[in-house]
Amino acid sequence: MSRIFKVGVLGLGARAESFSRKLDGNHPRAQLLAVCDVDPDRLVQYCDYCGHKEGVRRFTDPSKFFAQEDMDAVVITTPEFVHKESALAAIAAGKHFYLEKAMATTSEDCRTILRAHRKSRVTGYLGFNMRWNPLFRRFKEIVDCGVAGKIVHVAGLEQLHQAHGAAFMRRFHRHSARSGGLLNTKCAHDLDMLRWLVGVRHRVTKVASFGGTNVFLPQNGPPGHGTHCSNCPERIRRSCSYVDRAGFVFPVSGPTPLHKTRDQAIYGGDLCVYNDDKDLVDNQTVILEWDHGVRGNFNLQLFQNRGRRAYTIWGEQALLEMDTLWGEIRVTHSTSGEVQTHKIQPAKGGHGGADAFLIDSFLDAIESGVAPDSDLSAGLAATLLAEKADESRTTGRVVEIRQDEYL
Ligand SMILES: NC(=O)c1ccc[n+]([C@@H]2O[C@H](COP(=O)([O-])OP(=O)(O)OC[C@H]3O[C@@H](n4cnc5c(N)ncnc54)[C@H](O)[C@@H]3O)[C@@H](O)[C@H]2O)c1
Repeated sequence: MSRIFKVGVLGLGARAESFSRKLDGNHPRAQLLAVCDVDPDRLVQYCDYCGHKEGVRRFTDPSKFFAQEDMDAVVITTPEFVHKESALAAIAAGKHFYLEKAMATTSEDCRTILRAHRKSRVTGYLGFNMRWNPLFRRFKEIVDCGVAGKIVHVAGLEQLHQAHGAAFMRRFHRHSARSGGLLNTKCAHDLDMLRWLVGVRHRVTKVASFGGTNVFLPQNGPPGHGTHCSNCPERIRRSCSYVDRAGFVFPVSGPTPLHKTRDQAIYGGDLCVYNDDKDLVDNQTVILEWDHGVRGNFNLQLFQNRGRRAYTIWGEQALLEMDTLWGEIRVTHSTSGEVQTHKIQPAKGGHGGADAFLIDSFLDAIESGVAPDSDLSAGLAATLLAEKADESRTTGRVVEIRQDEYL
């Protein structure tokens, strides 16, 4: 029989919920030992909201949280600007850790975590949960079976629903120093997916990017709008697609939704999306070239009615297409024109069923001692790519990536 792992969750926001609830249920392999958030109000509200048992230890001081000798592992769901300190604290305390994407705000911080991890004996797992989405997993299997022949070109798209996109313009992500920029904080997933599909042994060597803020500009706000949704005139709120309903973070409403952490200067609360206190782009395009000659692109859009991800692979022998809107994969053979369709049923749980597999996959990695597929080097590769794309976007130059920058 497998042992029961005692797990702590650090950073009690939107993301933590999908882990702590599962761990505090009747998980056959793990038990929620403790939770920690530096915001004391958040700690209380979160535990009430999730209905955590009395016996779950509660901390506001991360050093006391990490000092628990009987804690085996920790799930880190703090914001990106805290990931380095959280991961280093886990390594220093000898705790296995699951670290949410994006790994850190800069590639140098990712390398600092990687270097510390290499000297340790703990498992480090990077939370690229899209790899567990059944649609993406099937797409990867089809790519790997070689039906496309030699891969020539790849493309990825992330299109966000309006409410989802708006969240990045008002929350901690809006300051790129705290999130590493929109491409890093939101699309680290997609940059990892492109790498996973093309083959993780290959590395991007050149990147170019264009992007900007076209919609969420102060001058585009409706005349007379408030600084925050809560002080915006009702007639404007009613017609605003981006009004903060707090539902993106927690399904609660009312004057003090749970996502309003104490420090509004950082966390933003219901800040108007047309605020001038942000430095994020709201649309971006990236062009990539890998070391084996494959080329590709990625596009990011924030203003649509439906969230969607789509990936296309052009091979010498077939075209492979996958789209979360259809929930299916199409393979079109180049010579015969024959089309095969694979319909994939989503599994239950967040992110198209992906989240349901995360805890077990993390526990498997700890138990086996074998490095997970989604490891810290995958986290570095994604953040490095986002950083280089943003360098290209801001300098107007094609940026090269040296092999040693991936180490
Ligand atoms: N994998 C995914 O699909 C996915 C989805 C959503 C969010 N995320 C990631 O999860 C992370 C958290 O995002 P979120 O939306 O839950 O953020 P959030 O702002 O809702 O919550 C973060 C919490 O961390 C707390 N915190 C800050 N510093 C801390 C510290 N030093 N120690 C303990 N707690 C601290 C804050 O008080 C806050 O309550 C981010 O890295 C985000 O990118 C991943």
